[in-house]
Amino acid sequence: MNWIALLLTILGLVLLGLLLYWQLIIAEGAYLGPRVVVLMYDWSARIYERIKRYVPGDEQWFLGLPLTRALELIPVPLVLDVATGTGRLPRALLRQPAFDGRVIGLDLSRRMLREAVRRTAQFADRLTYVWQDARNLPFDDDTFDAVTCLEALEFTPDPRAVMAELVRVLRPGGVLLTTNRVGPDARFLPKRAFPRDEFERMLSALPLEDVKVRRWQQDYDLAWAVKIGEPRGGGIRPLPEILRCPACTDRLSREADLFRCISCGRAYPIDKDGVIKMARFERATLTSS
Ligand SMILES: C[S@@+](CC[C@H](N)C(=O)[O-])C[C@H]1O[C@@H](n2cnc3c(N)ncnc32)[C@H](O)[C@@H]1O
Repeated sequence: MNWIALLLTILGLVLLGLLLYWQLIIAEGAYLGPRVVVLMYDWSARIYERIKRYVPGDEQWFLGLPLTRALELIPVPLVLDVATGTGRLPRALLRQPAFDGRVIGLDLSRRMLREAVRRTAQFADRLTYVWQDARNLPFDDDTFDAVTCLEALEFTPDPRAVMAELVRVLRPGGVLLTTNRVGPDARFLPKRAFPRDEFERMLSALPLEDVKVRRWQQDYDLAWAVKIGEPRGGGIRPLPEILRCPACTDRLSREADLFRCISCGRAYPIDKDGVIKMARFERATLTSS
């Protein structure tokens, strides 16, 4: 009897270990909700780039250069990088000599953003960071010349809804650049990682054309697409013109060190490091430091 109990206990512990490994290591908390995902990125923000080991040349070749070329007809293009992490895409883009635009980086992990600010300090005058959830982008429709979201859709509760949100803020004729998880771990990410043909169909179901999905890294496909519609306008616009209140979607006005909703009065402070604080998860993340 004791042996059976021991065996069952060991089996239970092994199953629990496997479950935790799946949920926390492979899925990085994706099925446990955004708070857990954010907590994990907050914890690992300082070592994130050591784990990823980005090769600057590859970043330029696969991200910075093609995006710069896609935007070359727009004078001073405006780019939004959703789930910007430690500022990988802003860096790749702003290092391109031919890119003269501005970038807004948005993320839900305050500590990832703190790292991003530190790692992109030399581009501070062309870069703004916003602390907010990708599911509710605080921007007007049809705003950006390019919207990017790399290696992040699978960590959101509903990747389709986030993709729709990325396309909403992209202006007609604007470029979408995003990723889909592939490789050995993708099979352990049901409803977050998709077979390539299904991912292509998901993109094509949105108001997008020229959809191209190609193998990029061992774990990711890279997807390019263009928003359908008559291209108009484009280029940089002042923040109060494009920012929207995440609570009521009305416009914000700039005060000394905050943005305030002209309708509901909510205040969104600009932190000491320049990050605009819109997210609600105060306890799971950093407050002013
Ligand atoms: C694997 S990292 C990718 C970061 C960056 N795009 C890159 O390629 O290095 C995933 C990022 O997604 C962010 N993230 C996860 N869920 C999010 C959400 N709901 N809204 C905004 N950012 C989110 C995390 O905080 C993390 O910085």
